[in-house]
Amino acid sequence: MAKIIAGIGSSHVPAIGAALDNGKTEEPYWKRVFSGFVKSKEWMAETKPDVAIVVYNDHASAFSVDLIPTFALGCAAEFPPADEGWGPRPVPVVQGHPALAAHIAQSVILDEFDLTIVNKMEVDHGLTVPMNLLFGQPKDAWPCPVIPLAVNVVMYPPPTGHRCYMLGKALRRALESYPEDLKVVIFGTGGLSHQISGPRAGLINSKWDKSFLDNLSKDPKKLTRIPHLEYMREAGAEGIEMVMWLIMRGALDDKVDEVYRFYTVPASNTAVGHIILENARKASGTRKVAGKSKRGAAGKSRQAAARKTIHRIASKGTR
Ligand code: DHB
Ligand code: FE
Repeated sequence: MAKIIAGIGSSHVPAIGAALDNGKTEEPYWKRVFSGFVKSKEWMAETKPDVAIVVYNDHASAFSVDLIPTFALGCAAEFPPADEGWGPRPVPVVQGHPALAAHIAQSVILDEFDLTIVNKMEVDHGLTVPMNLLFGQPKDAWPCPVIPLAVNVVMYPPPTGHRCYMLGKALRRALESYPEDLKVVIFGTGGLSHQISGPRAGLINSKWDKSFLDNLSKDPKKLTRIPHLEYMREAGAEGIEMVMWLIMRGALDDKVDEVYRFYTVPASNTAVGHIILENARKASGTRKVAGKSKRGAAGKSRQAAARKTIHRIASKGTR
C-alpha cells in the first residue's frame, strides 16, 4: 500500500521564489527566512519520499473566474511552471504520478468527495515555492513525482476547514488501498496570517498563527471548527489559505510527532509558518516499505539520526 509517513506545512509567498530565482538568498532579509528551511531540506533528503502530494491553491494562473473548482486533482504526467507575469519560474517541470492520481480520484470520488480531475495544468508559486523550500533548487528534475491538489481559497466560498480535514482522511484511505508500496509525504501550503489588499493590508497576527500551529499538532479537530469569518478577522483575507493545512493534517494519524517548526515575520506581506509532522507509526510503516529493499534496521537508524538533527528554531516574530 501507499503510506503517508509525514505532513509538511509551509507558506508559499511568491517573493520567496523571486529571491531564489534572483540570487538573493544571502541578503539578511531573505537569509532569515531561508534559515528556517535548512534542517527541513536535510530531513527531506533523508526521508526520500516516493511521491509528494502537494495541497496548494492556484492564484488565477491555471484557473480564472471562468472556472473555479473547489478541489482539483492533478492527474497529468507533468505540470509545467506557470507564467505569473515575469515568465515561467526557472524550476523543473513537475512530474506527476498518473497511476496513483487516477487511483486517488476513483477512491475519493467513490468515497463521496467530488473532486475535479485535471489532465492539463500549469502550477504557480503556490506549489513551486514550497517545493524549493523543501527540495532545494534542482536544475533538471525534482527528486520525486508530485500529485498537485489545488483548492479554491481565492473566490468565496472556499471549502470549510472540516471538509478539508475529512478530505485528508479520504486521501489517506485512497493511498492505503493502492497496491504498490510507496512512501508518501503530503504538503499543506499557504498562509499564515496575511492580507494583501484593502485597509487592513499588511495584517499579521502572530499570536493566532502560533496557536494554529500548536493545535495543528495537538488538537486539529479544534481547528476544523474555525469559521471562515474567524480566519478573515484574525488572519486576514488571505489567511483563509490555512484551511489547506487541514487536508494535510487530516491525512495523518490523530497523534503525530512534531519534529520541526519555524515561524518568522514577515516575508513580503506574510507571516511564514512551517511545520513537519511525522506519523507516530512512521517507523513501522517505513519498515514495511524499507523491508522490501531489505534496509529495515539501517533505514530506521538513519531516521533516528535524521530526527536528532531536527530541533526547533525559536521564533522571533517582529510583531
Ligand atoms: C503574498 C503571499 C501569498 O500567499 C500570495 O499567494 C501572494 C502574495 C505576499 O506576501 O505578498
Ligand atoms: Fe497565496
